[in-house]
Amino acid sequence: MSGSIISENTLQSVISIVKEASSLMVGKGYEVFEKDGFANLVTSSDIAVQEFLTGRLSELLPGSGFICEEEDFHDTSKELIWIIDPIDGTANYSRGIADCCISVALAKKDEGPVLGVVYSPARGELYSAIKGGGAFLNSKPVHVSDRPFENGIFCCAMSTYRKEFAKTCSDIIYDVHMQSNDTRRWGSAAIELCLLASGFVELYFEMRLQPWDYAAGALILSEAGGCIASFDGKAPSLYAPSLVVAANTPGNLQRLLGIVHDHMDSLPY
Ligand code: IPD
Ligand code: CA
Ligand code: CA
Repeated sequence: MSGSIISENTLQSVISIVKEASSLMVGKGYEVFEKDGFANLVTSSDIAVQEFLTGRLSELLPGSGFICEEEDFHDTSKELIWIIDPIDGTANYSRGIADCCISVALAKKDEGPVLGVVYSPARGELYSAIKGGGAFLNSKPVHVSDRPFENGIFCCAMSTYRKEFAKTCSDIIYDVHMQSNDTRRWGSAAIELCLLASGFVELYFEMRLQPWDYAAGALILSEAGGCIASFDGKAPSLYAPSLVVAANTPGNLQRLLGIVHDHMDSLPY
């Protein structure tokens, strides 16, 4: 597939579609359902946003595939694949907390993400990137900070949906907390990776994320000069759940990964 398909025009079209989709999140009633256990929520807005996005993005790039969070909507046989989290931070959304967003990535099958858009209507933040073109927040370029580990703000989570991993998470989080400035649990992986990209925070760890949680944020972070990796130090998979560490600098990433390895010889899933 030629590189020209990922043009600034494509990005602007995706941004328009994502902004249109966000009207389905804002200012209307929604129903909340549980899926796979009490901690994992889905709302009627998640479903509506995903249906809108898949329809409009198929029209934009006919023949493209999809990896979406809701309703087992997967077709990875195509060369270009949309990776969509219709609402990242659903628990926040369902409680009226602003930290939730739509996350859309476009990946080339053998190359990884080439376009990423993360839009949080309630925060008024639209992050975007095309591979090789830098990262942007509301059209202004962003870059990671150069703060050392000791001054870093650390974003993390305690393995909400797989609580059998929570103790290991807690041990890792404690060690990082003791070596860094402070710790946050925001509740939206996509927003946290974008905050890292924009220099607001420096360190990120989560035990088990899905590709739709990080695909767009990973590209935005890389384009902003940051680093992201899985347990093995390689890029997180776009086709399977992954442990994710991310940082503003390669040195901070290696130190973070070292702390993870202090507590785990191998991935427990
Ligand atoms: C969740 C959020 C949260 C992270 C969870 C994710 P969802 O996504 O990104 O920050 O800790 O692991 O599943 O369920 O709100 O789309
Ligand atoms: Ca998510
Ligand atoms: Ca979601």
